[in-house]
Amino acid sequence: MTVKVGFIGAGTIAELHLKALAQVEQAQISAIFDVNTQRAQQASEQYGAKSYESAEALLDSGEVDAVFICTPPFARDGLEEAAVARGIHLLVEKPVGLQLEQAKRKEQLILESGLIHSSGYCLRYLDIVQQAKEYLKDKQVDLVLAYRIGSAPPLTWWSKLELSGGQLVEQSTHQLDLIRYLAGEFKAVQAIHELRSSMLAIDPDATAYDVGTVAFELQSGAIGNITSTSVSKYVGRGEVELFGDGFYVSLKGAALRIVDDSQDITIKSRDQYYFKQDQAFIEAVRLNDQSLVLGSYSEAVATLAVTLAANESAASRSRVEIS
Ligand SMILES: NC(=O)c1ccc[n+]([C@@H]2O[C@H](COP(=O)([O-])OP(=O)(O)OC[C@H]3O[C@@H](n4cnc5c(N)ncnc54)[C@H](O)[C@@H]3O)[C@@H](O)[C@H]2O)c1
Repeated sequence: MTVKVGFIGAGTIAELHLKALAQVEQAQISAIFDVNTQRAQQASEQYGAKSYESAEALLDSGEVDAVFICTPPFARDGLEEAAVARGIHLLVEKPVGLQLEQAKRKEQLILESGLIHSSGYCLRYLDIVQQAKEYLKDKQVDLVLAYRIGSAPPLTWWSKLELSGGQLVEQSTHQLDLIRYLAGEFKAVQAIHELRSSMLAIDPDATAYDVGTVAFELQSGAIGNITSTSVSKYVGRGEVELFGDGFYVSLKGAALRIVDDSQDITIKSRDQYYFKQDQAFIEAVRLNDQSLVLGSYSEAVATLAVTLAANESAASRSRVEIS
């Protein structure tokens, strides 16, 4: 069975998924919609798909078994519900919205439907992440240090907190999701977010912070910190470091380092995570096997809950418990 795939949103991430899906033998890119019709037409021509004039027209076309929702975080209203109502499987880019209650309602509908669901947490598919998970499975993590530093992407909506959610919700969410995946659930967060200068230089009306740090407790009792900045024009990197009694694990870019009494090894991954993520989703749809998906919609909602709690904490300057 070939899985016919539609795209809602044909921007930066959609381009990466289109490129990856074109390599997945069992997938056929069939339909594309973007509010920017020129962008949808251009992508449709490039990938042999048909472009549509609305999300509903695309979902009603009968040409879509599964849909990739690749719109910015502020533009998700009703899309998942419309796909579910038509029995269309879905991969929804992270973050899966900006309001937790709305995301939870969507999650409930998706789970009740029995459809296959995936999210944008592509790093989970890296072989080195799986190796780190295997190494840590019977170990107690005591401290986590994580960061994502770089410059702001040139997207008009990114500098507005109300449209993007800010860097942790939108970008360092990948590192935070890895912490959940490898070290367990969050218990509480305490964040400081500040808008300094770089974001205002890009957008004088910016409302998103450009330096932020979150101290946290995990349910296991481990503590940690995750720091985000978009002021770093010349140096960009992301890392999650996990410390425990007698071991150290670091995931930095495409490299895993493990240090303990018997080893100090660094493993470099050659995996293309978008390809592996998309291939797993298509296979899950074909075999009707949700277990092939490593980052479900529900996982994405759980990660969103922590990042939104950090925003609440930064705004109220208080510690926020994760419900
Ligand atoms: N998983 C990853 O590694 C990764 C990487 C980049 C972006 N993303 C996520 O993907 C999403 C999109 O980000 P991007 O960088 O592609 O943004 P982008 O601005 O480059 O592209 C978004 C596209 O959506 C279109 N759009 C906006 N509103 C729409 C609507 N209501 N219906 C249809 N199309 C609409 C825009 O015209 C644009 O073409 C964000 O949630 C972002 O966090 C994920």
